[in-house]
This record gives sequence, C-alpha cells and structure tokens, in this order.
Amino acid sequence: MTSAEKARTPGLFVTFEGIDGSGKSTQARLLADHLTAQGHDVVLTREPGGSPGAEEIRALVLQGDPDRWSAQTEILLFTAARRDHLERTIRPALDAGKVVICDRFADSTRMYQGLSRGDLRQMVDDLHALMIGVEPDLTLLIDMDPAHGLERALSRQTAEERFEDFGVELQAKMRAGFLSLAEEFSDRFHVIDGGRDIDSVAQEVTACVTARLG
Ligand code: ADP
Ligand code: TYD
Repeated sequence: MTSAEKARTPGLFVTFEGIDGSGKSTQARLLADHLTAQGHDVVLTREPGGSPGAEEIRALVLQGDPDRWSAQTEILLFTAARRDHLERTIRPALDAGKVVICDRFADSTRMYQGLSRGDLRQMVDDLHALMIGVEPDLTLLIDMDPAHGLERALSRQTAEERFEDFGVELQAKMRAGFLSLAEEFSDRFHVIDGGRDIDSVAQEVTACVTARLG
C-alpha cells in the first residue's frame, strides 16, 4: 500500500509499542472493549501474528531454538508475517472504515531486530519501505522501568520466552530505543507512563485515541 493509498483509507490504525511486560496487551484489550462499547467497529490484532499465515510464522520466531535464525533471516520472517497480516487483516479492516488496534507493529522490528543483534536498522527500514510501506496513524508507547516490566513479563508463564530471556539489560536498551523512536516519529507517537495502575493508563490511552477519532 503506498502512502497515497493509505491516505484514502477511512479507518484508524492504532498501534501499541513498548518493552515486554509494559502492559500493551492489557491496554489494547481495554481500548478495544471501550471503543466497541462506544459503537465503533474495532479489530484487535497483534504481531507477530494477526492472520493465519502470520500466526504460523509467529511460532517459527518465538518458539524453538532462537539461534537457528540469523539476525537477517529474523528480519525477513517478521516482515513476511507483517506482509501477510497487512494483506489479510489490517488493510481490509481499514478500507472498511474500522479502527484497527495492533499490539506491536513495525516499530518493534526497528527496535528488536534493528538494535538488539547489531545495527541493522537500515535493513529493517529498507525492507519495510519495499514490502510494507504503511505507518500507524497513532502509536501509543507504553513506557516503563525495565526491571518493573521484566518482573511483570516473567510473572506470566507462556511458551514464548524467546525475547523475554534476554533480561533487563536488553529491556533498558529497548526502552531507550523506543523513546528515541518516539522523537523520530513525533507526529504519530504518544508516550504514556505505564508504571501507573491499569485504570490510570487506560484513561490516558482512551483520551488520546478519542481525540484522534474526533
Ligand atoms: P505486554 O503486552 O506489554 O507484555 P501485558 O499487558 O501482558 O504486557 O502485562 C504484563 C503483566 O502485567 C500481566 O500479568 C498484566 O496483567 C500485568 N499488568 C499490565 N498492566 C499493569 C499495570 N498498569 N499495573 C500492574 N500490572 C499490570
Ligand atoms: P509479544 O507477544 O507482544 O510479547 P510481550 O507481550 O511480552 O510484549 O511479542 C513477542 C516478542 O516478539 C516480544 O518479545 C518482541 C518480539 N518482536 C520482535 O522481536 N520483532 C517484532 O517485529 C515484533 C512484532 C515482536
């Protein structure tokens, strides 16, 4: 989808970003419930995943031995999942005028694949321009202390421990990276203090999105 095509889509594309355990999934769900109750047509989705094919790729990148993928192959896998998600789920929903709420999107690849295993940001951006070409209308960065985030993430037991395993040092690097990404894309990013209780964070999230919906 080119930016000209995107400009014509009637829907609203909202993404949540932040380190593991910052509360993205919780807030995405609460926002979806709130907007649905207000009468909006909402699609709640996530990455990696969000379409049957992309969910298959999710299992490839988040389960099993992580060392079987090079950093470059990992970028290709996340981007392949995103392309399928965009074609099958996001674009049709936006074209139908829906609000799409996505738990992580391309900013996560810019951070996790672009920063964590060397400086591969340019490669991430080049592939994004070639294969995705879409940015969210609004990105809510749930910012929080890495030790706190890791504590929360580890309290959840899932099979997908691939990235959580990297510990607090990587979380700190990702947090700083997300904050500088928020400056780089200041037109669409809104930084929210995720260290507060769930309701306080949700109120700010709702206010932000409601302002965008007019
Ligand atoms: P993420 O999707 O960013 O990894 P989650 O939404 O899954 O984060 O939250 C991680 C854990 O922390 C969950 O157990 C969730 O219930 C809890 N949690 C989320 N937000 C808060 C909050 N504001 N205060 C306390 N606990 C929270
Ligand atoms: P997610 O299920 O959102 O985990 P969490 O709820 O703990 O935040 O995402 C799973 C992991 O995938 C997360 O550690 C970040 C990673 N990830 C990437 O490395 N690159 C990407 O492009 C995306 C979307 C996620």
